Amino acid sequence: MEAGHSQGHPAVPPEARDGPQSAPRTPAGPVATVRSPPSLRSPHVINIDDLRRRARRRLPRVVFNYVDGGADDEVTLRENCRVFQDVTFRPRQAVAMSSVDLRTRVLGTELAFPALLAPIGYLRLIHPRGELDAARAAGAAGIGFIQSTISGHALEKTREASTGPVGYQLYLVGGRAASEAAIERARVAGFSALYVTIDTPVAGLRERDFRGGMRELLGGSFASKLRFLPQFVVRPRWVAGFLRDGGVPRLENVVIPGEGPMQLIDVVGALARSRVTWDDFRWIRQAWPGPLVAKGVLTGDDARRAIDHGATGIVVSNHGGRQLDGASATLRALPEVVAAVAGQAEVLMDGGIRRGSDIVKAICLGARAVLVGRAYVYGLAAAGQTGVTRALEILRTDVERTLKLLGCPSIAALDGSYVDGPFGSR
Ligand code: GLV
Repeated sequence: MEAGHSQGHPAVPPEARDGPQSAPRTPAGPVATVRSPPSLRSPHVINIDDLRRRARRRLPRVVFNYVDGGADDEVTLRENCRVFQDVTFRPRQAVAMSSVDLRTRVLGTELAFPALLAPIGYLRLIHPRGELDAARAAGAAGIGFIQSTISGHALEKTREASTGPVGYQLYLVGGRAASEAAIERARVAGFSALYVTIDTPVAGLRERDFRGGMRELLGGSFASKLRFLPQFVVRPRWVAGFLRDGGVPRLENVVIPGEGPMQLIDVVGALARSRVTWDDFRWIRQAWPGPLVAKGVLTGDDARRAIDHGATGIVVSNHGGRQLDGASATLRALPEVVAAVAGQAEVLMDGGIRRGSDIVKAICLGARAVLVGRAYVYGLAAAGQTGVTRALEILRTDVERTLKLLGCPSIAALDGSYVDGPFGSR
């Protein structure tokens, strides 16, 4: 079950071993200013699955399973990854290219390659510097970071930490007044876009969290935490970091008027308070003047509805297979959404991205860029900022190599003619 999402990609070709060690260059110039340490380089870490194995060795089981798991039978979680295998490439051979242009523009900002770090909750539990390290690594790699509402570091600090664009993901967990205050803070701090997650009327049934005791970890009595002792003694580095950081963090960006930052609660409780409707979308649109993105769209109809309510961007997403199990894999849903949007909003997608070739396939099917979730969190868990940097090096060099192998000069030139697939491409 746990290996479900690591879709058995074939081994990385030998030339990939050199890629991550050379300074990454695109026509935008060198982008990665932080190099990963030798222990994270090839041949120790060649792909994202290698980082996942390290994350598993670093995190207590309960925390690893929160990151790694999905809803119910995890069918959608697995399918998000597997479906990339249904799309095959149509390369153009004997096209010599010494460099390819990986840049793209997303919601008014340029990215060095077409990826952003997805909003992931509880990052400060995964690593004490959580959002700060992720934002720093994203900025150094020339891409964007999106901060989750369920975050332990103040959004102003995250904004300061990154040299790239930073977006804010909104859950209404603290109610409307707390949300309006966070939106205003994000505006003042210079956040570049607001992402409203629309697929959480309730939390999905994440069985691994129930069995593992995520709820008890975050809020249980001392006695209920004794069950974690066996996993904590074999993860001393995580425990030391967690205790040095003051234990369970607060939700620094959900400030309840008259009360202060909200206590961190488990995802079942948090999402139960995060129900959002298209009516809410109206006041959110009024409160936020910048690019507004609806995250969690899986049909053309909802994409149109989002645009009608002021969205300028759409994320085709099933929440990483963590909400409605049995929902369509996102790559499969993408062409319908792209067609319905008809250029009236930018379409992004997330779910199942473990290779740069996955990113390229998503772009061929109409995405402007992708959001990367677990792929970078495994790196964060393994080694903080340098682990995220390594995950991004892997994905960026994968994208570059894939374009060269395809005979395609740039991200901008990718289209459906480079792929064959069962769900409408060319
Ligand atoms: C948090 O947003 C989660 O879905 O786990």
